This record gives sequence, structure tokens and C-alpha cells, in this order.
Amino acid sequence: YCYDEQHCDPYAWGDLYPSCHPLLELHHSPINLDHDMIRNGSLGPLHLEGFDVTQTGHWTLTNDGHSVILQVGGGMSVSGGGLPDVYHTLQLHFHWGGPVTNGSEHTVDGRRYPMEMHVVNMKSIHPNMSAALEDPTGLAVLGFFIDVVYADNVHFGHISQKLTLAPTLAVPFPLMSLLPKRNMSQYYRYDGSLTTPPCSQAVLWTLYEVPVYISWSQLAQFTSQIFSTEEDAEQVTPLHNNFRHIHATFSRVVSASRDARLLSGTAAPPLRPAASVHLLPFVLLGGLASKL
Ligand SMILES: *[C@@H]1O[C@H](CO)[C@@H](O)[C@H](O)[C@H]1NC(C)=O
Ligand SMILES: *[C@@H]1O[C@H](CO)[C@@H](O)[C@H](O)[C@H]1NC(C)=O
Ligand SMILES: *[C@@H]1O[C@H](CO)[C@@H](O)[C@H](O)[C@H]1NC(C)=O
Ligand SMILES: *[C@@H]1O[C@H](CO)[C@@H](O)[C@H](O)[C@H]1NC(C)=O
Ligand SMILES: [Zn+2]
Repeated sequence: YCYDEQHCDPYAWGDLYPSCHPLLELHHSPINLDHDMIRNGSLGPLHLEGFDVTQTGHWTLTNDGHSVILQVGGGMSVSGGGLPDVYHTLQLHFHWGGPVTNGSEHTVDGRRYPMEMHVVNMKSIHPNMSAALEDPTGLAVLGFFIDVVYADNVHFGHISQKLTLAPTLAVPFPLMSLLPKRNMSQYYRYDGSLTTPPCSQAVLWTLYEVPVYISWSQLAQFTSQIFSTEEDAEQVTPLHNNFRHIHATFSRVVSASRDARLLSGTAAPPLRPAASVHLLPFVLLGGLASKL
């Protein structure tokens, strides 16, 4: 994934942006979600203000060469679910792979989903993004895994049908229609960073357990119809694999919400074989190795 021509390798971002250097900084994103989680019963559903109505502001769909971004006008915010403040919704964007590879940023037990959608929200006390990036909880990003089925997701058509037109004005629609219809109280929470430079460690991540479903052809619209924008390029290159590599959690706690299911529980991890009890030292070593 190229942040710019000189820095195609995300491991090299640290040269240009010291704050992206994974060895110097400990709270990077994305991470792999595994059974090392702690349930927090006070993490109930988030309140998504204004997501269920059609807003009146100006929305735009742009391609910045790294992703496709839907900038939304005002009127929407997120709060609750353990967030320390109200966060105003700014934009949403996507991460994807290639024609035959998956491209979510976060992984679940090592599995990468085909895509991931990020809804970016800024703490309401901050006047601008640079101020928010100085605050360890300045941003709240809602992450949604996107999986593929045979049927089109008609709501997703609001975006996928317009990809080739970007930059373009977008007609506002209720953002809720892009989100999972059910089980929004099932999510994971951890402290992390932006996944693109400057990689600021300013993000409270909320990753929803239940994915959004789109069709194969809608997925193909992302992997084949979006190009890295280089104005003088002789040939345009499809934008692929715009995800950052997985980072170690180090000492961070990953919390599971009150209702989270798949990876819930730390005392009796559901997918670990029961026979491993007398192999505990090896299990612990394995767990340690996966964190380095
Ligand atoms: C549970 O979440 C709340 C809200 O974010 C937080 O204040 C509290 O410290 C968490 N508890 C644990 C045990 O992590
Ligand atoms: C990629 O996504 C597909 C569809 O969800 C899934 O079947 C497959 O296991 C994923 N591949 C990897 C390597 O995670
Ligand atoms: C952002 O807000 C901070 C805090 O009010 C202010 O000091 C700074 O000048 C602002 N930066 C920009 C680029 O507007
Ligand atoms: C969604 O929530 C319902 C009701 O709590 C539950 O029965 C179902 O298993 C959940 N689905 C997933 C995929 O977690
Ligand atoms: Zn993102």
C-alpha cells in the first residue's frame, strides 16, 4: 500500500512520519482480535444521533488516492457506549483488498474480511482535526467488517454506483441504512491510532461484531473501479490493498461489550481445545508469541 510514491511500504512510513514507527509507539492500529478480551458489562449500545434521518447538509464523495471518502455534513454524532464525550460525525471511508484477496484492516482470529468501513467522529470539544489528534481520545472511529453474499445491498448502491464519478456531490441518505440491521450492541473497544499517516494515537476504536453484507459485484466495484490518483500517470493503476499491517496489542486491553458474542469470555475461551489444560505453559507461550 503506497502512502506516496516513495513510501509504498507501510513499514517505511516511520522514516517520514516518526509517529508511525511501530517500535517507538505502542498504541497502533489495526490489531488482530482474538480471545484475549475482557468483557465490560458497562459497554452498552452507542447512541447514533441523526443516523436514522436524511440530513440536509452537503455531502461529497472523493477519492484521495488512498481511499474513497464520503464527507458528510453536520447533524450526526455518536455518544454513549463508554465514549467519554459526544463525537461529531465527519466522514466514512473504506479499506479493501484486490480481485482475489481480502482487505479489512482489523482481523478476527487471523481472518481478514473482504472490506472494512470506518465512520470517523471527532470529539465535540475540539475545533479542528489537529487539536483532536493531540488528544488520546480525540477521535472515535466505528469500524464495520464487510462480507460478501450473492444479493446486492441496495443501500450500499448509494456509494458503490457513484465510485467512478468521484469527486462528486452525494445525495444525503440515512447513514443507518449502511450499518448492520441488528446486533449493534455487540462490539469490541480498544485504544489505537489512525491507520494512515500521521498514525496519531488518538482513536477510540469500536469494532462491530456483525458484518455488513454486500454483493460480489459491489465488492468488485471497489477493487476494479477506483484508481490511485497520479495526475501525470501514463497508465492508471487500480487502488488495491489499502490496509495497514497488523500491530501488536502490547499492554492494551481489548474490551468486549456487554452483548458481544463471538470472542466473548476470557475464563473459558470457546475455541481453545479443552485438552490444552495440562499444556498451559505452551498455551501461554503461544499467546505471548502472538503478541510480539
Ligand atoms: C468499562 O468501561 C467503562 C466505560 O468506558 C470504563 O470507565 C471502565 O473503566 C471499564 N472497566 C474496565 C474493568 O475496563
Ligand atoms: C476472505 O473472505 C472470504 C469471504 O468472507 C472468506 O471466505 C475467506 O476465508 C477470507 N480469506 C481470508 C484469507 O481471510
Ligand atoms: C486548531 O485549534 C487549536 C485549538 O483551538 C488552535 O490553536 C489551532 O490554531 C487550530 N489549527 C488550525 C489549523 O486551525
Ligand atoms: C444477534 O442477536 C441475537 C439476539 O441477541 C442473537 O440470537 C444472534 O445470535 C446474534 N447474531 C450474531 C451473528 O451474533
Ligand atoms: Zn480507515
